[in-house]
Amino acid sequence: MGDLIAPHGGVLVNRVLTGEEKQVWLNRAEHFPKLPVSNRTVSDLFCIATGVFSPLTGFLKEKDYRSVCETMRLSDGTVWSIPVTLPVPEEREKEIAGAEYVSLLDEEQNIIAVVQVEELYRVDLREEARLVYKTEEEAHPGVRYLYSQSPLNLGGDIWLLKRPAYPFEDRLFDPAETREIFQKRGWKKVVGFQTRNPVHRAHEYIQKSALETVDGLFLHPLVGQTKTDDIPVDVRMKSYEVILKHYYPENRVFLGAYPAAMRYAGPREAVLHALVRKNHGCTHFIVGRDHAGVGDYYGTYDAQKIFSHFTAEELGITPLFFEHSFYCKKCAGMASYKTCPHDDEHHVILSGTKVRKMLSEGIAPPPEFSRPEVVEVLIEGLRNKVGV
Ligand code: ADX
Repeated sequence: MGDLIAPHGGVLVNRVLTGEEKQVWLNRAEHFPKLPVSNRTVSDLFCIATGVFSPLTGFLKEKDYRSVCETMRLSDGTVWSIPVTLPVPEEREKEIAGAEYVSLLDEEQNIIAVVQVEELYRVDLREEARLVYKTEEEAHPGVRYLYSQSPLNLGGDIWLLKRPAYPFEDRLFDPAETREIFQKRGWKKVVGFQTRNPVHRAHEYIQKSALETVDGLFLHPLVGQTKTDDIPVDVRMKSYEVILKHYYPENRVFLGAYPAAMRYAGPREAVLHALVRKNHGCTHFIVGRDHAGVGDYYGTYDAQKIFSHFTAEELGITPLFFEHSFYCKKCAGMASYKTCPHDDEHHVILSGTKVRKMLSEGIAPPPEFSRPEVVEVLIEGLRNKVGV
């Protein structure tokens, strides 16, 4: 891997079985208890197996779970901010407790992985919500999802037997692949960008500001599960392609898809997002306003402040913080509260909710907010969706 940044925890995890070994395990897996899992779990499984979640080698066991919830670290002290768990139905406790392995089934009932049954443990979901999401309110989409899960968790190592089908296969690059790509391009400093939205002018501004000082930009939109009122992933993906084509130098940007689900855990998720991009080979990671936030649950810059809990060595990747950015009519350009002296009346600021409403009604947000080529794709894409 040459002089690339080390993966989190030192080793890039690979638990994808192939060839004869895979066949042997597929045959064995037929005889293990079978557990259907949610889309979220499939995403987590894939992220663990391909090293996106390095150093995790499986779903958290109790000691690590408690440590992550309480201290944002695994029990060995490695920084890890979000519990990655495998909930199992209470009524299957006895059966699973008596097994050595469990086979995991996707929605089509295919065996996609096996998990070693190392531990079964119960958790307090309200406590997890309070510690991880900073709220116990069910109105928070991440908390609502958490409460819909069983409080019984299975902890243990996993092996992936079948890569899940994602809509953007050609954009899914494992960390080992992005590392190779960045190296081939001669990029030593790479900044990662997380988003669950189309790229608007403010995103473009902070990406390009960062790119001025590094070699490459890894645009890494999340393509796993999001809230139903977020812009659908297929429409977003088209919008990324179009903005890159018209406004970014091809040799400085690489577009990949991040297969995880969105948790909306704000600050804690920002830390996870940074570690994931470190595993992909990024040296820097952008954290702007209200990263991974939802509603008013987190302060505008909480997702930046949280990084002060860790030393630069512990994190490995350098977070780049950006103030709330916008187009300023008086400056006649993009700016932020850090660089613009003018009042808000001169700033083009639109809430996500407002923009989504405009787009779904076929109304174009102004070019100071979003590139016209992007708007066109979004309006067209949303027109073709039923019920959006
Ligand atoms: S999310 O995954 O973090 O929820 P989102 O698309 O809202 O995705 O934001 C992507 C990144 O851009 C985050 O780091 C966020 O903080 C930052 N960001 C979004 N809008 C702005 C803005 N107007 N000014 C500065 N940073 C922004």
